[in-house]
Amino acid sequence: MALPFPNDPYLTGYYRPFGAEMDAADLVVEGAIPEELNGTFYRNGPDPAHPPHPDNKYHVFDGDGMIYAIRLADGRAAMRNRYVKTRKYELEKAAGRRLFGVFGNPRFNDPSVNMMDYNTANTHIWPHAGRLYALMEGCPPVALDPATLDTLGSEHFDGTVTGPFTAHPKTDPATGAMHAFGYSAKGPGSTAIRYNIVDAQGRGTHTAFLDQPYASMMHDFALTDRHVVFPCLPVVIDLMRAMQGKPLAAWESDRASHFGIMAKGGDGTGVRWVESDPLFAFHIANSFDDGEDLVIDVAGSRRAPLMPAADGTPADPAASRFTLKRWRIRGNAVHEEQIDGMDLQFPRIDDRWQGRRYRKAFVNGTPRPSPGRVDGFDTIATIDTESGHRDAFNAGDGAYTGEPVFVPRPGSSAEGDGWLLALRWDSLKNESALLILDAQHVSDGPVATIHMPARIPGGFHCSWMPA
Ligand SMILES: [Fe+2]
Repeated sequence: MALPFPNDPYLTGYYRPFGAEMDAADLVVEGAIPEELNGTFYRNGPDPAHPPHPDNKYHVFDGDGMIYAIRLADGRAAMRNRYVKTRKYELEKAAGRRLFGVFGNPRFNDPSVNMMDYNTANTHIWPHAGRLYALMEGCPPVALDPATLDTLGSEHFDGTVTGPFTAHPKTDPATGAMHAFGYSAKGPGSTAIRYNIVDAQGRGTHTAFLDQPYASMMHDFALTDRHVVFPCLPVVIDLMRAMQGKPLAAWESDRASHFGIMAKGGDGTGVRWVESDPLFAFHIANSFDDGEDLVIDVAGSRRAPLMPAADGTPADPAASRFTLKRWRIRGNAVHEEQIDGMDLQFPRIDDRWQGRRYRKAFVNGTPRPSPGRVDGFDTIATIDTESGHRDAFNAGDGAYTGEPVFVPRPGSSAEGDGWLLALRWDSLKNESALLILDAQHVSDGPVATIHMPARIPGGFHCSWMPA
């Protein structure tokens, strides 16, 4: 007998768990799917299969990973969704209840799962070398079959990935190699970072270790033509604090931010750390070398949302709104400029411009933020990072938009010539759809709206894999 979920903003409304796996062929389409769009849009996000222990508060970063795959071919669309069948998921399915504490907190673990890996695989879905990986930063990637979404198991890339692996790897457009890292690489709360390169054929070819100044929860990193940059920002993991019943990860406002700059492909030595005020970002849009400067564009804030203070005080949503910012590292200083003032998240780019000087950032956000909202983003936009021009589509009252993914137009080599694909939930009609927008004419609205057979809950990151 499955148990009811508690009343929690991340377990109701947009985030109410769906709990079902479906297949649907030939979905209803308004407008026309461009004939050149052949491939699959993937979305990962949390869909907790069971409620946590009554004394253990749920967190939106904690639900079991559910993958949605929306296949486009010859102007038609089909969808499939599947849980990532992690060991955690399978053990809890067999038990018919949750066995792990939230984030694997051992205070709330069933004794049968103590010392086991805690993997929800719920954050990103990333294709590489013909395979598909469900990613959550605390564990190695979980490989999936791109066609069936069957779970194939943990991936260690020839033994080079020995622990946590970021949800935000980068593909170097010059070589096709994937660059990635893992923090807490020598145990939870350790300062060790492991840096990996996986070549275009999927072979693990490089491993290096370095240490960050303190054990930050490092969600993303930067890759340029010449450098990798590890941002150590003040969301700090502290096991001793967790043992006292306080937050495992907390915003420590008295810490500086540090940026570790290393040569691309470096061996972990010669890392130059640059210190700044406590800046924060979950997500980096792009980064590039600009002469001797290093430019990192982010959805940035001055305080991490969704992360309590060390004493457990919740984050003030007004103090932690994200806008599109440029962090310029010049010498030993970090200068911050605002590119766009809209409340936004999930910046993406034309991935062919990864690590290079670029102009197009694709975001979801809202021009009309409300305090205390639960991710009420209703707008998809292309932002010109040089002129600041914003080309935006507002999806209307009651709409919730997800991360946009850019798909280049086949045969075109111009930055941003292609489409943006993003999910929209219409809360007034309780309907979900995949929107396809022309990335150069976003304000014209969707060229196609693909209706889903059921509501798709709020989630995180998306990818496109061409057929
Ligand atoms: Fe992320």
